Amino acid sequence: MQDPADLAFPEPDQAAKAVSKRLLERIRGEIRATPYGRIPFCRFMDLALYAPGLGYYSAGSAKFGPEGDFVTAPETSGLFARSLAGQIAEVLPMAGGNILEVGAGSGVLCLGILEELERLDTLPDRYNILELSADLRQRQEALLKSRSPDLLGRVRWLSAWPDAPWDGVIVANEVLDAMPVHRVLKIEGGWRETCVGDGDEGLFFDDCEVTESRLRKVLDNLDVQASGLPEGYQTEINLAGGDWIRGIGGFLRRGLVLIVDYGYPRSEYYLAERNQGTLMCYYRHRAHDNPLQRVGLQDITAHIDFTALAEAAVEAEMDVLGFTTQAQFLLGCGILDMSTADDVIEQARLAQQLRTLLMPGGMGEIFKVLALGREIEPGLLGFAVRDERFRL
Ligand SMILES: C[S@@+](CC[C@H](N)C(=O)[O-])C[C@H]1O[C@@H](n2cnc3c(N)ncnc32)[C@H](O)[C@@H]1O
Repeated sequence: MQDPADLAFPEPDQAAKAVSKRLLERIRGEIRATPYGRIPFCRFMDLALYAPGLGYYSAGSAKFGPEGDFVTAPETSGLFARSLAGQIAEVLPMAGGNILEVGAGSGVLCLGILEELERLDTLPDRYNILELSADLRQRQEALLKSRSPDLLGRVRWLSAWPDAPWDGVIVANEVLDAMPVHRVLKIEGGWRETCVGDGDEGLFFDDCEVTESRLRKVLDNLDVQASGLPEGYQTEINLAGGDWIRGIGGFLRRGLVLIVDYGYPRSEYYLAERNQGTLMCYYRHRAHDNPLQRVGLQDITAHIDFTALAEAAVEAEMDVLGFTTQAQFLLGCGILDMSTADDVIEQARLAQQLRTLLMPGGMGEIFKVLALGREIEPGLLGFAVRDERFRL
């Protein structure tokens, strides 16, 4: 019988259910193969999102836009891509080189940035896209081919970081929140890691010993930096984000890294009152907090600890060039000047998009922009209105 709490969620079609069933079998097989019949939540999230051909981002569901599960800023309005292009155009002549977008979704941000850079006469030779999903890569190519075939020739798809010193601008919008996280629970005298087991009633959560030394170290630091978190406190730790930054530190010779995502500085993330963490799932524009449902058919995300990213950047000998809210960043890039139109209906449409992108208490404030770099002067356009690095 269907759980009444599920009634608000549209039923997946048969094809989607079949993919989800195969993914569940894959996950159950992996759980059964472990000595204790448990896998860390982090591994579960990795499989649920990225198992080849089956995971949420690897299989063929709609994901983005009104037909999908969520709407990102570049899907909301072309003003977002134009604003980012303004920031990129300021830096590219300084840095030289090209653009590298990580996790390009539907491809709409790439299209918007290239079109604006063409208008500004600062097109780079190459716009590289590092994309894990073969399905999304096809969709990105199809979008560029249909909307701007002339620009498609500049786009190259990569499956790994550049293996030689690289100059240019790296862009990642809502990528780090989609990286698998460790879920942890505070108990008397320490921390436990959330694991996933498989039983007669389906997948279930259990708590296990923290065995990974890197996770243990982060939790030891958290005990010092956010002392007094109560027993029963549940949260997430994103180790993959730091690895990702250190990966960039390994090849970036001169350039800028622009990270846009939702999250907080550490002092605002691990608050006693945020005792259930920030993990959220999105299915057909409905948000909920149970990642064990609709496995492979829903997005799973967690907010970003921006202090952890800044620390990883410093460790990798990169500079932290700016940190601010999405609203302040877009205002700094001149979004208001881009939002005028002669046509009244178009003007109303742009005003509505502006509200969504800049909304305090919504996208405008929950989303932050972190700029990292090497051999780039601080004082970037996007942080001219307000630079809040002091919060990190
Ligand atoms: C929420 S979607 C955002 C898509 C797009 N950037 C946008 O704003 O519409 C997350 C994207 O991040 C990608 N992703 C997650 N981890 C990644 C990684 N380590 N390397 C490259 N892409 C990654 C996913 O494949 C997916 O395309």
